[in-house]
Parts: sequence; structure tokens; C-alpha cells
Amino acid sequence: MENVDISKGFVDKPVPADIDIVKEIKKLCKEKNAVIMGHFYQPAEIQDISDYIGDSLALAQLAQKTTADIILVCGVHFMGETAKILCPEKKVLVPDLNAGCSLADSCQPEEFKKFIDEHPGHKVVSYVNTTAKVKALTDICVTSSNAQKIIDQLPKDQKIIFGPDRNLGNYINSTSGRNMLLWDGACEVHEKFSLEKILDLKKQYPDAPVLAHPECKKHVLVVADYVGSTKGIINYVNNSDKKKFIIATESGVIHEMRKQNPDKEFIPVPPDDSTCACNECAYMRLTTLEKVYNALKYEQPEILISEDVRAKAEKSIVTMLQMS
Ligand code: 13P
Ligand code: SF4
Repeated sequence: MENVDISKGFVDKPVPADIDIVKEIKKLCKEKNAVIMGHFYQPAEIQDISDYIGDSLALAQLAQKTTADIILVCGVHFMGETAKILCPEKKVLVPDLNAGCSLADSCQPEEFKKFIDEHPGHKVVSYVNTTAKVKALTDICVTSSNAQKIIDQLPKDQKIIFGPDRNLGNYINSTSGRNMLLWDGACEVHEKFSLEKILDLKKQYPDAPVLAHPECKKHVLVVADYVGSTKGIINYVNNSDKKKFIIATESGVIHEMRKQNPDKEFIPVPPDDSTCACNECAYMRLTTLEKVYNALKYEQPEILISEDVRAKAEKSIVTMLQMS
């Protein structure tokens, strides 16, 4: 394999202008026994070339089962790490190492360890939007699809530290009657949905239910008709007789909803600080077809995790998958 420069976080090589890039990506996948896993927040053209698309939970479950030699994760960095933690023997690639996550960044391992040490006797439950090092400090991982189900399985008197998302943590506290100790982190994208704009949209579309991701602030969640993961929101739309839906999560999710429900209308909630019509995660949008092509061709950038951290992090994810 040719040695390539990835100092920019991705393979910065020009892609020949005369190739059919989608066809070449498919060809490379076949030749190398590679599989592309894309998250619902990816740009539409990336979702369309993915072998599987899913929410964080589904992507972890798929990684655990795949027989591919190479997994290319089109999402953000922690999603690539989750695949590598579960499949240490496989090559796990991401198109761009700069695709981080503001929520994962809001919980640095050194500070999280200090927090845990200051509160002995607690079970540590972490949202999957965390680095491998934070997962290594965690007893059980959760995603927005299974957080409620997993917390409900813990004894009622079990003291719990929940990190890093204060909004998801507060939401689970309110639905489960728990008093989990929360890490003070948040997602910069979901925190931007404004209640005012949602109330305006509700007036404009009185029949449209509001569907929100639990990373949104409490004042958004209380006016939502449904709160759930990306997959949960898609399922809600699929099973509803309504024709219009107000969507309070990253707008990439609308691509799959439209595909499955061409007769329905989706109204994205805009962020509070702009005139844009929808709210996008800048990290998710770093993936391009060119970066996907180069990642497969040069098998870079690769996710690498020290075995010590990986083995500790694996326990928290495997426990989650068993309890899901
Ligand atoms: P899901 O687990 O619902 O796919 O969400 C992941 C995420 O990053 C939400 O911002
Ligand atoms: Fe992270 Fe928020 Fe982007 Fe999800 S939407 S990947 S939580 S920054």
C-alpha cells in the first residue's frame, strides 16, 4: 500500500475527474471486502452509497456482526472508534479524522476520571458519544435508542453517574424517576433549537407532530410529541398517519424519511442564531465522496486505539449490546 500523507486528517489526493466515483467506490469495496456504514446525519450522497445506514446503536450492532475485512465508517470519530473497539482485528477507516463531536469533546477523560473518583459507589453510564478513553472509564454505554431500557434494568437504589449529555440525562431522570448525577456536557447542534421557532412552526402547521432528539434542551423536549433517537424518529414517521412533521434534530435524517415516505412533508426546525432553514452538524458534513474514495483506495486514515484502552472500553459496549 502506497504511503500517503494524512497530516490534514484525510488523504488529500486529487480524484481523476473522468471517473464515475460512485462506481469506483463500489468496485473498491468489492475488491477489498470493505463495507461502508453511514449515519443518518451524513450528506444524502454518502447515505446513498452506504451499504448500511443506521443510528449509533445499529452501527455498533452491524460492526459486531460484519464479516468484511475493512469497515469504512461515514459518521464522526467516536463512531469509528466504536467499530474498532468491537472489531480490533479489522481495519476501520474514517474519511476524515477531523470529524469530531462537540458532545464527546465536552467530556475529557482526565476530568471525567476526577469526577468519578469524587463520587465513589456510583455505576458509570456513558452515552456512546464519547471517546474510547471515556468509554474505558465507563461501566455501561448507552445510545439514545436504548438509554431508557438499560437504566430501567439497574436496581432502583443504584447510584448512577451519567455522562456526558446533560439534556439526555435530565430527560432520563424525568422519565425514570431517577436522580442520576449528570456530567455537564451538551451537543452544540441540538442545543441550538429554539423554542420560539418551534412554537411558530406549530402555529403554521398545527397538525404536524414535533419529533425531537433527546439531546435537545428541556424546553424543546416538553413541547415534543415524540422524543427519540434518529431511528426512533424515522420509525415514528413510518408508522404515523400524519402527513407533516416538524423535525428537531440534524436535518440529514430527513433524507431517509423522504425516501421511505415520499408522500409526507418534513419541516426542519432552524437553529436559533441564523436565518438558515435547517440545523446541520458541521462534523458530519465533512464526509465527501472524494474522501470516501481516497480512504478506500489508500486504506487511510485508520482508527487506531491502544489495546489497554480498547479492552476496557469494549466491556462497556458489550454490556450495552447485551442489555439492549
Ligand atoms: P443517534 O444515536 O440517534 O443516531 O444519535 C447520534 C448523534 O450523534 C446525535 O447527535
Ligand atoms: Fe456530535 Fe452533536 Fe454532531 Fe451528534 S449532532 S455528532 S452529538 S456534534
